[in-house]
Amino acid sequence: MAVEVAGDLAAELAEGGLRLDVDGAVATITLDRAERRNAMTFATWRGLARIGAALPGEVRVVVVRGAGPSFSAGIDLSMFQGGGTVGRGGDRAETERSIAEFQEGYTWLRRPEIVSIAAVHGHAIGAGFQLALSCDLRVIADDTKFCMKEPALGLVPDLTGTKPLVDIVGLPRAIEICLTARTVHAEEAARLGLAETVVPADRLDAAVAELTTALLAVNADAAVATKRLLCEAPGNTLEQQIAAERREQVDRLRALFGAGG
Ligand code: ACO
Repeated sequence: MAVEVAGDLAAELAEGGLRLDVDGAVATITLDRAERRNAMTFATWRGLARIGAALPGEVRVVVVRGAGPSFSAGIDLSMFQGGGTVGRGGDRAETERSIAEFQEGYTWLRRPEIVSIAAVHGHAIGAGFQLALSCDLRVIADDTKFCMKEPALGLVPDLTGTKPLVDIVGLPRAIEICLTARTVHAEEAARLGLAETVVPADRLDAAVAELTTALLAVNADAAVATKRLLCEAPGNTLEQQIAAERREQVDRLRALFGAGG
């Protein structure tokens, strides 16, 4: 059942060019500033964090999509211009605190309780590319163009994108992609593992809906435990990981068959 997102939250999200639709176990976040190619402001990142904090417990799949011709053109460049809010000197610790606050808009998409899907089409640049990288899965249209533009602007990617990028494509390719700030088109993105699925642009919504249905068909608690396990794997030794498998499985068996299981 679709739940209307309450007035105050909806208004706060609208300020950041965001829309949230919750329908039972599926939440859809729409970057909704098509006339600016879904360029993002501080309010966008705060809004994403608010969504993470306010997400109903029954939500199992979160879809992030962009309205209009592109997923997102990245940071709103007007924030760099005269009188803009980015780039002022300021206190170092305070600036780091602000960045940490913006990063919260991205980190929650990895939570074990949900599977996040970026539905990407058109341009996904800078902060937009990083938002797609923050999701567990990427379903992309064949017109997708990823670009890590930050170094070309004298910046580093700081919205949690560097780790997933390196994890997915490997260090040498990540260095090449970021330090040339070049465009990675859909076909190459799929080859590099940056997308689970590439579909014709007019099939994007259908492909995301099919994946969502398949994800929801699996036992909810097993899905959470399995994602938790998989997320731990890269940081664990084999011994640690198989011990974690045992712990999770005991919990599963007890849940399925009772405490004697
Ligand atoms: N910030 C602010 N406004 C933007 C941005 C942006 N990042 N991107 C697009 N817009 C605006 C354009 O200025 C234009 O406004 P106008 O209608 O008033 O002229 C409108 O959105 C449409 O943009 P177009 O360029 O006409 O759209 P098109 O589809 O041809 O191109 C593209 C899209 C490729 C995304 C282009 O707009 C672009 O290169 N944008 C800048 C991308 C960028 O450098 N982002 C920063 C990345 S770094 C980071 O995110 C930290």
